[in-house]
Amino acid sequence: MQVNKVLVIGAGQMGAGIAQVHAKAGIPVLLHDKEMEYAERGFQTIEKNLLKQVQKGRCSEQEKATILSRIELTADIEVASDVDLVIEAIVEQMEAKTKLFSKLDKIVSPQTIIATNTSSLPITEMAASTSRPENVIGMHFMNPVPVMKLVEIIRGLATSNQTYETVHNLTKRIGKTAVEVNDFPGFVSNRILMPMINEAIFSVYEGVATPEAIDEVMKLGMNHPMGPLTLADFIGLDTCLYIMETLHQGFGDDKYRPCPLLRKYVKAGWLGRKTGRGFYQYH
Ligand code: CAA
Ligand code: NAD
Repeated sequence: MQVNKVLVIGAGQMGAGIAQVHAKAGIPVLLHDKEMEYAERGFQTIEKNLLKQVQKGRCSEQEKATILSRIELTADIEVASDVDLVIEAIVEQMEAKTKLFSKLDKIVSPQTIIATNTSSLPITEMAASTSRPENVIGMHFMNPVPVMKLVEIIRGLATSNQTYETVHNLTKRIGKTAVEVNDFPGFVSNRILMPMINEAIFSVYEGVATPEAIDEVMKLGMNHPMGPLTLADFIGLDTCLYIMETLHQGFGDDKYRPCPLLRKYVKAGWLGRKTGRGFYQYH
C-alpha cells in the first residue's frame, strides 16, 4: 500500500519532527493535538527548524514554504477517517495510548495503519485495544527526528506482513533507515540507552560527581555527542521515568528500578529542556 496522507497525533517534540520529515518527503500531513495551541506550538518548532536550514543555505525559502503548506493543524480527531497512516506520539503511558487507539479504531477506515512512536510500551497490548491488530505497528523515531537516521520498527504479535512492508517502504521514502526488532520492553534502543541514563542519575544521587562532570566523562571519554544527563533533559525526564518503569515492570528485574532522584524531579515538574529545568537550567 502507498501512503498518501498521514495523521500525526501529539504535536510535542517527537510529533512535530515526525510531521516535518513526512512533509519534507512530499507527503501531506495532518498534525493533531488535544488543544489547537499545542498543535500551533508544534508547527512553530517546524518553522524554526526550517528557518535554520534556510539560513544555512540547505533549503530555499520556496522549499520551506512548500513543506509548511503540506502540514495542516487540527484539534479534531475525526480527521483520522481520511488518512492511510496514523502515527501516535502522545505521552508514554499505556492507558492514554489504549484509550486513543480504541477511539481511532472507530474512526479510521479498515485499511488504515495505526503506528505508535512509543519508546518502550508493548505494541501487542496497544493492538489488542483495536479490532484490527494486524494493522498496528511500532514506528519508533529517534530525537531529534529531522536529524537521526534510525526508525526501529516493531511488529506486534498479529502485525501483518503488508503493514510491515508499507511502513518499511515509507521509512525509506522519508530518508530514514529501518531496523526491525521484536516486541520486548524498551525494544533495543531504550533497553540499552535508558539504564545508562538511569545509572548516570544514580551517580548524581549518590554524590559520585556533578552532572557536569558525569556528562564530560561520557563526552570526552566515550565520544558520546551529548552526556547522559544532557540527553535525559533533551528526551524529557517524564519520558525517561515512564520508560524505566516499563522496563522494571516488564522484566520484573530490580536492575531496572528508576532512580529516586528521577522520580523526585518529575514530581517537581522538572522535566528537562521542555519545562526549562532538569539536571540543567534552560532559558
Ligand atoms: N531539531 C532539529 N534539528 C536539530 C535539533 C533539533 N532539536 N538539534 C540539532 N539539530 C540539527 C542542527 O540544525 C544541525 O543541522 P545541519 O547539519 O543541517 O546544520 C545538526 O542537527 C547538528 O546540530 P548542531 O551542529 O547544532 O549540534 P551537534 O553537532 O551537537 O548535534 C545533535 C546535535 C544531533 C542533537 C547531537 O548532539 C546528538 O546526536 N545528540 C544525541 C542525540 C540522541 O542520542 N538521540 C537519541 C535520543 S533517544 C531516543 O530518541 C529514543 C527514545 O525513545 C527516548
Ligand atoms: P511531549 O511531551 O513533547 O509531547 C506529547 C504531546 O502529546 C503533547 O503536545 C500533548 O499535548 C500531546 N497529547 C497528550 N495526550 C494526547 C491525546 N490524548 N491526544 C492528542 N494529543 C495528546 O512528548 P514527546 O517527547 O514528543 O514524546 C511523545 C512520544 O514519543 C512518547 O511515547 C515518547 O515515549 C516517544 N518518544 C520520545 C522520544 C524523546 O526523545 N522525547 C524519542 C522517541 C520516542
